[in-house]
Amino acid sequence: TVDQRVDSVLALMTLDEMIGQMNLFTSDWAVTGPTLRENYKADIQAGKVGAIFNAHTAEYNRELQRMAVEETRLGIPLIFGYDVIHGYKTITPVPLGEAASWDLEAIERAARIAAEEATAAGLHWTFAPMVDIARDPRWGRIMEGAGEDPYLGELIAAARVKGFQGDDIAAVNTLIACAKHFAAYGAAQAGRDYHTVDISERTLRELYLPPFKAALDAGVYTFMTSFNELDGVPATANAHLLREILREEWGFDGFVVTDYTSINEMVPHGYAADDQQAAMQAVNAGVDMDMQGATFYDHLKALVADGNVSEDRIREAVGDILRVKFQLGLFDDPYRYSNTDREQNNIMTERQLADAQDIARKSTVLLKNEGQVLPLAKDMGTLAVIGPLADSQDDLLGAWRGAGEADQAVSLLSGIKEKLGEGVRILYAKGAEIEGEDRSGFKAAELAAMEADAVVLAVGEGSWMSGEAASRGMIGLPGVQTDLVKAIVATGKPVVVVLMNGRPLAIPWIAENAPAILETWFAGTRGGPAIADVLFGDYNPSGKLPVTFPRHEAQIPIFYAAKNTGRPMDPNNKYTSKYLDIPNTPLYPFGYGLSYTTFAYSNLKVDQSEFRAGESLTVSVQLANTGKRTGKETVQLYIRDLVGSTTRPLRELKAFRQVALDAGESQTVSFELEPETFKFFDAKMEFRAEPGDFEIYVGGDSNAKEMVKVKLVER
Ligand code: IFM
Repeated sequence: TVDQRVDSVLALMTLDEMIGQMNLFTSDWAVTGPTLRENYKADIQAGKVGAIFNAHTAEYNRELQRMAVEETRLGIPLIFGYDVIHGYKTITPVPLGEAASWDLEAIERAARIAAEEATAAGLHWTFAPMVDIARDPRWGRIMEGAGEDPYLGELIAAARVKGFQGDDIAAVNTLIACAKHFAAYGAAQAGRDYHTVDISERTLRELYLPPFKAALDAGVYTFMTSFNELDGVPATANAHLLREILREEWGFDGFVVTDYTSINEMVPHGYAADDQQAAMQAVNAGVDMDMQGATFYDHLKALVADGNVSEDRIREAVGDILRVKFQLGLFDDPYRYSNTDREQNNIMTERQLADAQDIARKSTVLLKNEGQVLPLAKDMGTLAVIGPLADSQDDLLGAWRGAGEADQAVSLLSGIKEKLGEGVRILYAKGAEIEGEDRSGFKAAELAAMEADAVVLAVGEGSWMSGEAASRGMIGLPGVQTDLVKAIVATGKPVVVVLMNGRPLAIPWIAENAPAILETWFAGTRGGPAIADVLFGDYNPSGKLPVTFPRHEAQIPIFYAAKNTGRPMDPNNKYTSKYLDIPNTPLYPFGYGLSYTTFAYSNLKVDQSEFRAGESLTVSVQLANTGKRTGKETVQLYIRDLVGSTTRPLRELKAFRQVALDAGESQTVSFELEPETFKFFDAKMEFRAEPGDFEIYVGGDSNAKEMVKVKLVER
């Protein structure tokens, strides 16, 4: 068995060799943090490294692997990791964008493509998926997750793990995944990256942990600790998280890696006096591998000698690491992922690019379409394509783009030209830069708009404005872009605003005044053609927001699953929960997104209005395509538990289904609600359903109006 093989290796290892396995160092290809070890090759040769990250390509990794296997006493192979977040070379939309598809099959496929390519380039391990729930759009890393909702987050976490890891981790085209950042990194105060997290155990369990548990249930092999502290204890030394929850409650048997130098960072956190103490705290709390910090490298041996860390604990950690190496097949053939033929033939294939384009189309969200400006006609005389993002290849890839290359990405302008050919005259004007005050390009942009039959205006953020260490305090369009939009809208032409961004944007003027708005996130290598497919009606958009868009930063945090409060908002009563100067409602709610057709909901029914704990419930609704085109709707089901031993949110997403209907077609859509649907952590922190009244809402977004009541009765 694998465990016997692990034990047979452990039996041969010295303490130094065991400690070596617990170190992860970056090669010199890229860093995201403050330290760089230049001597990583010497460390590999000395048997002091268990895994390397950022090194890639079949040939380069073969050479590093050769050092580990041929130049060390025991020849234990290395694991090669990399941030393959939304693609290796073929870049799919940023994860928040993919989440907007609500299409689990497409999301899994995107991760599958990433795994096929990355494993062909010598990689075994991705530091993904990031499954952090994020309700603060200022936080730059919101781009990398699945948005604000734990239920959607769970399903997407599982889809991504399945996509990366496939059915068989020993296959050469599957990557081990890493659920990160454990835990509650998304709750950083004020949306500032790396900031303090202070949430209740209830919020931790209800909101932040479910996607991690879902990743674990999907078989994820590794977990990464987060940079933040939680209730005063850094996550990297948090035995409640790493021992009690992850190992004891959940039974995780893979290995735990830290984030980049997060052990050392416990010193500035004020939790450890020095690196040695930090190393002790981390390893004793359950960390198995130190990313880049060299604290295990420098201090573990002394900590064992002094009796502060037991040798058994080291053996346990190394056993977990070695098990994964066996499971990957590295002991059978350490070079099995370093095959240059496979690398040449499995990266950016036609199929992968076509899939990337399809996933990008599915990720777009139609936010507004007044007067049916969209889809645009393919036979118009002149089209103006304007904006700082219209011809950008680089920004399309977003942050964490793996080894993706900007010059391989097809910009929106090129995608439109590819689609329209010579038939339509296209006028391009950049208009403005993403940032800065320069308005000198406005005039040319206005002239182009005035000459055109319609305008596509691509605005948004630069790709560097979201991701790690990229929080923004103000989340409107940067620079003078809003003024550019005002100038172009003022021409009176039909204007389609195409948004490219890694987070929700607060854009009230645009929402009010631009005739059409298409949210495209950072759509990836095939972003331009994908967006063009949507703009010209070759694809009917079906995305739904996985996160709330605020009107104003001052509303943050704003999310759909809020509580009612004791004084719910009443416009006629001053002493209710509201602001004097801004509304409570968001610009666009969670779950929102339009289509080129329209859908109507009716006849919401439940098979029994009273049910008992342990029974399931069938809810059905009639969905009709009332427009003129075939379209796909994401039918969403929310519940509200009216009275609980702890208060419950106004709405909680509990199920959804994607349904494609032809124009004029209707269908009954049914949901089987399992008993789990009604459970929550009660006053005693027991996960159970309490008898009482529930409301069930079904519709096309989190403001769904159709409602039925049900009662859970005592046994
Ligand atoms: O995987 C990342 C993590 O999400 C943030 N810090 C750096 C790691 C490795 O690049």
